[in-house]
Formats: sequence, C-alpha cells, structure tokens
Amino acid sequence: MRILFIGDIFGRPGRTIVKERLPELVHDRTIDLIIANGENSAAGFGITPALAEELFELNIDVITTGNHVWDKREIIEFFQMADGNRGPARRVLRPANYPKDLPGRGVYQGHKEKLPYAVINLQGRVFMASNDDPFRTADRLLKEIESKIILVDFHAEATSEKISMGWYLDGRVTAVIGTHTHVPTADERVLPKGTAYITDVGMTGPYDGVIGVKKELVVDRFLNGMPVRFEPASGDVRFCAVIIECDENTGHARSIERIMIS
Ligand SMILES: [Fe+2]
Ligand SMILES: [Fe+2]
Repeated sequence: MRILFIGDIFGRPGRTIVKERLPELVHDRTIDLIIANGENSAAGFGITPALAEELFELNIDVITTGNHVWDKREIIEFFQMADGNRGPARRVLRPANYPKDLPGRGVYQGHKEKLPYAVINLQGRVFMASNDDPFRTADRLLKEIESKIILVDFHAEATSEKISMGWYLDGRVTAVIGTHTHVPTADERVLPKGTAYITDVGMTGPYDGVIGVKKELVVDRFLNGMPVRFEPASGDVRFCAVIIECDENTGHARSIERIMIS
C-alpha cells in the first residue's frame, strides 16, 4: 500500500496547490490512501466543515489537525454531529490526548480497498499546551486498534519529543509523521523495526512568509511585541508531503520519500 501524507495545508494557497497537483501525483505514484493535516486550511487558522468537505472532494481520506483545531467555532458543532453516526466528521481528527470530554476524536479506523487502516492524531507537550501524555495515549489507543496499517500524525514543536515518539512506536505503527513546525526536515527514514519516520513534513502553502504568515507582520511583531493581526502570505507556494510504502500484511514500512512540489 502506498500512502500519501500531506503537511499542514495553509489557507487558499495551500488548498489551491493541492487541488492542482494532487490528481497527477496520485496517478503517477499510484497512491492508495491520502491523509492531510488541515489545521491551517481556513486562512491559516483552523478548519471549517465546508473546507473539510472541499478536501474530502479532492479524495483526501482522513484529515488530521493540531493546536489550531478550535480556531473556527463551527468545527465544534461538526464534531458533535459526528458522535453517534459515521458521517464525514468522523474523518476529521483532533489530537487524541486532549481532555477526553472535548468534542471530536483522535483516532479513525476505516477501510481502503478492503484493507483496514487506522489514523491517530497526537499533540506534543514541549513548548505547547499541557495535554495528556501523548506516549501513554498512543499505548492506550494501540490496544484498541486491530488493523496493521496505522499512521500517526504527531503534531509537535520539539524535535526531541518527535524523535522520541518515533523510537517509542517503532515496530508498532506504520509511520510516525511530524507536523506543526511548517518546516520540512531532511531526516526521513525507516526505523529498524519497520516504522517510517520524519520529524516534520513541512507546510503545504506559501513559503514567501514566516511559516505561512505575511513576513512583514511577523517581523514587526518580533521588533515591537505589539499585537498584530496575522494574514496569510501568498507567494512561493509549495506542496510538501511524504509517500510511505508499506507491507499490507505486517503494516511495516518499506520506504518513506519526502516530496516538495512547487
Ligand atoms: Fe500548522
Ligand atoms: Fe500546529
């Protein structure tokens, strides 16, 4: 099975490049399953039900998020609607290690071409909000998951925490994919027990800015420390993703390839 994981889709520029380039990529690389982090798809801040639908129409199977998940209030009702049915909201995840009574879920179990698979979304705790332990949350979720193909989006800031999660889950999941920093890292590899790993896939969006935001606004914020209303950048748009090939019987990764399309 060949899985495409697309890094944080940022605003309209990110959504547009996905729309333009995804069909050809899926065809040329015979992709079977598509996962994307959509936490920045609404002008950089959050995701709405309409934008989730737009991403599903592009054949993205599961959308993960992170610390920006609550930026658009509509997503709360969308998650609440998902409880008790199997509608599309079930395929939008928020980190699993948030307080458990919050709306939404952090794990999705589905089938693709009759193959069962699972996606887990976790958030780090270093330089981020203090949520539940993502390591022990992973342990707990893995006990409940029967499929061999398991993809983990670890949405975290610190490289050390992300690399630790890679080692912690090596051999137990197909891939640990880092998101959140919006900067791709050149450390993709398959760990010894068969888990594909990368510290950060990078953003799918405008690189002519500071992690997606207009550069002048962010530089101004660093210079003066005054509140600034952030607006998305627009230039140098790139599509950042990884392609993971895995053994369908064991769920172990055979390869991970980093791609950046501009
Ligand atoms: Fe992000
Ligand atoms: Fe984030």
